[in-house]
Amino acid sequence: MKILGINHSNDAAAALVVDGRVMAASQEERFSRLKHDASFPDKAIEHCLKTQGLKLGDLDAVAFFWNPGIHAEAPPRRLVNSVRHHLEYLYGVPSHLIPKLGERVSSIEQTVHLASGRKLAIHYLTHHLCHAAAAFFTSPFEDAAILTADGYGERQSTTIYRGSGTRLELLAEIDFPHSIGSFYAALTDYLGFRANSGEGKVMGLASYGKDSEYVAKVRKLITFTERGFELDLSYFEYFHDRPHRYSDKLVALLGPPRAPESVVDKRHEDISFALQAITEEAMLHLARLARKLTGAKNLCVAGGVALNCVANGRLQRETDFDKFYFYPAAGDTGTSVGAALVVEHLLNNGKRSMEVASEYLGTGFTPAQVRAVLDRGQLRYHTLKDPELTAARMVADGLMIAWFQGRAEFGPRALGNRSIVTDPRRKDMKDLLNATVKFREPFRPYAPSVLEESCGKYFGSDVPSPYMLRAYPTRPEMIDVLPAITHVDGTARVQTVNEKQNPRYYRLIKEFGRLTGVDCVLNTSFNIRGEPIINTVDEAIKCLMTTGLDALFVEDYLVVKDPAKVAPYVKG
Ligand SMILES: [Fe+2]
Repeated sequence: MKILGINHSNDAAAALVVDGRVMAASQEERFSRLKHDASFPDKAIEHCLKTQGLKLGDLDAVAFFWNPGIHAEAPPRRLVNSVRHHLEYLYGVPSHLIPKLGERVSSIEQTVHLASGRKLAIHYLTHHLCHAAAAFFTSPFEDAAILTADGYGERQSTTIYRGSGTRLELLAEIDFPHSIGSFYAALTDYLGFRANSGEGKVMGLASYGKDSEYVAKVRKLITFTERGFELDLSYFEYFHDRPHRYSDKLVALLGPPRAPESVVDKRHEDISFALQAITEEAMLHLARLARKLTGAKNLCVAGGVALNCVANGRLQRETDFDKFYFYPAAGDTGTSVGAALVVEHLLNNGKRSMEVASEYLGTGFTPAQVRAVLDRGQLRYHTLKDPELTAARMVADGLMIAWFQGRAEFGPRALGNRSIVTDPRRKDMKDLLNATVKFREPFRPYAPSVLEESCGKYFGSDVPSPYMLRAYPTRPEMIDVLPAITHVDGTARVQTVNEKQNPRYYRLIKEFGRLTGVDCVLNTSFNIRGEPIINTVDEAIKCLMTTGLDALFVEDYLVVKDPAKVAPYVKG
């Protein structure tokens, strides 16, 4: 079966599943260049179809990440518009001819279906089921507990499923407005960052804080129960249409909120610490409950809260599961994949491919396409015999390079195909990157990519972390060796790399290891602050030319900005 999955919310995305395998997927932001773009993902859909040489008419089904029917009486206007939009797109019926949505969406869909004469089956699927399906059906596990936690679905904000084979069984659920994701977003708003966007910054800031009076204060906001947790809703406003997500009572408890872009002080750091500590407690509590309810040995985690790599690191260290899978596109992006897999497995009994899905599902370019772009721009470039070795030599000498290879990553992290790679041994590298390339807040850490087999040598765990979704402590004796990627609290958000996952990136790190004795590089996404990750060769060249980057590698080509800088590496 050929199934298109659509997420039309935060980080809108499309995914294509063919006979149970995810063949293509991308966020809309990569094409529109608007970070977290929530508009209808028509460019991402086009990408998915083009990759497989398909047209809309070739599809067997379309799977939608949300079930508007669950909002019994009145679905939110945003969703109503979303449904009208995708019906217009998929059926080619102008939206003014689509009947007014006051009734249940399924009957509207049927009307459009009859009016257009197309037989495309559209499935509206429960949001957390889509999160759970993405995490379980792309995992290597035959049997697992699945924990999902986000801001909110139709009603649910948290679920525990049992996955076995091609089945999913719901065992526990917590309904919005009780929600870990909304709790974190409300405090993110309080701390002066954008909710649903700045949560990663708050996690970075938390490491600067200390265990203070604020931990007990933030603990007042949540009660852990046998079935999960409850929030004290009097501290929040996110379920009302108000300018802020927190109430005056929260301000009375914690003090005045921080204005966006204003100075970050000690109190903000300590509140971030407390928020992070309580979130970790909540996720530990939920994971232990999932273990109790399922008895399973493996845990899959998805939903936006699963992007919290510090909490994930603790789940791995402090719960009784043997193995863990943190779904790489854990946020709503991944529900495009999950929706399609629900149709494949739960509705059509399709066989599971037990091969773990690749995370490199986005746009790619052939060498001829790359050359055409380079020639068009009349750029100087070199064709390299061994780009990995050349890149490793440059990185070892302290240059900042962009590494653009193969298909783009799906999900929020750059994992060696759209990455900026630099030397993690240099103390000044973080400041240099911030000042000349990334322009990020100084408190945000940079992350390492380490050879999978060497992980335990540098970090406090040798369990592979292929998607940069787990924080490990840097070994004390390695903190001085790796100052650029060790956060202020002594941890690092590790990506392990093996040869099968990404042969070219693996080799780059291996050569860097041969030259320097350190099997680890600094990896940060190829973009500048506020922009989505680079998607095309043109964008890559523009970023090279307008930032302090020293060189750009695209497939086998080295694009030259400053001939004197690359000369020592391309002689002969
Ligand atoms: Fe979600």
